[in-house]
Amino acid sequence: TPQPTREDKFSFGLWTVGWQARDLFGEATRPVLAATEAVHKLSEMGAYGITFHDDDLIPPDSLPAERERIIDEFRKALADTGLVVPMVTTNLFGDPVFKDGGFTSNDRSVRRYALRKVMRNMDLAAELGAQIYVFWGGREGSEVDFAKDVRSALDRYREGIDMLAQYSIDKGYGMRFAIEPKPNEPRGDILLPSIGHALAFIEQCEHADMIGINPETGHEQMASLNYTHGIAQALWQGKLFHIDLNGQKGPRYDQDLVFGYGDLLQAFSTVDLLENGAPGGGPTYDGDRHFDYKPLRTESIEGVWESARANMELYITLRDRSRNFRADPEVQEALEAARVADLAQPTLGEGESYDDLLADRSSFEEYDLETARNQGYGYARLQRLALEHLLGVR
Ligand code: GCO
Ligand code: MN
Ligand code: MN
Ligand code: MN
Repeated sequence: TPQPTREDKFSFGLWTVGWQARDLFGEATRPVLAATEAVHKLSEMGAYGITFHDDDLIPPDSLPAERERIIDEFRKALADTGLVVPMVTTNLFGDPVFKDGGFTSNDRSVRRYALRKVMRNMDLAAELGAQIYVFWGGREGSEVDFAKDVRSALDRYREGIDMLAQYSIDKGYGMRFAIEPKPNEPRGDILLPSIGHALAFIEQCEHADMIGINPETGHEQMASLNYTHGIAQALWQGKLFHIDLNGQKGPRYDQDLVFGYGDLLQAFSTVDLLENGAPGGGPTYDGDRHFDYKPLRTESIEGVWESARANMELYITLRDRSRNFRADPEVQEALEAARVADLAQPTLGEGESYDDLLADRSSFEEYDLETARNQGYGYARLQRLALEHLLGVR
């Protein structure tokens, strides 16, 4: 079995392996996992990073001295192991104060409190060296359409992000922000529900250049969207700052399964894109391979580590398979026959204008429609070869 190493850049949320498996219907099935233990264990298993929400690390009602002690112990565990904190985020969803959202609550005092909570945690994130700060607005949204003025909510969302970006700049933190879309849960409908909504929102922000996205596999799939296509567009726009990899079986509640446990074929195309880029070239992803999953509620701590390992091992397996896929001469031939790389060729010739196109009778008046209509594209062969590589039968 493949052995993860630091170079793989695997990271985990403290809230993932630390999830006590409290759900809507039942109590916790596992005891608290100390952050320091998570650090040691993840490091031993070959991960390189750990991420957290403020409240995962520091219980919200901690007094200042207690807060300092927790941070010191955490820092020591990091120093002892060499594990890093590449990303940090804020819990703006757990406390009842955020029941109508953080940045977009109809109550202005809640909005001000939310901004302060983020600023305090950004200071800690900077101290620990985090370069990415994630914003997942799980409570930003509504159940009642008439109760939320979405235009004003987006104004307030932008106001918050703009102010916090300015804070990072003024403090010299040099952070990059990553917005995480999700269609619903816990709110009936969440603002910035998909990759596309988030990308469009970012363009309206003052410091758009330092803001990207943190798309999660399952969140796009909850909305029946294609995750691989979504991250491809984010790469195209230079906005794939971070990723949350996990598994999801189609449009239902947010399952947060182990990566690949769900649409395995799409997990394969995801890894192929992240690692190899498009067949004709184009950007690949060089950020963290971050897993945001929930260990099964049926499991004790052994099962937690088993599943953490499963995420990394599956990623490595798919990476190996994707390299074999690309290196296979038959695949190369099939890609060429399917003209996949030809799409990179501009539709107009160099310097060609629409007048030239209008003058080109072969493009329309004399176009050989019958041949174009009757051609096959050769995708079926690619489909078969991809499946065979995924299954390891080639
Ligand atoms: C969810 C989200 C969260 C975020 C986390 C980081 O659906 O619960 O995926 O797990 O990723 O809050 O911002
Ligand atoms: Mn999720
Ligand atoms: Mn989640
Ligand atoms: Mn997530």
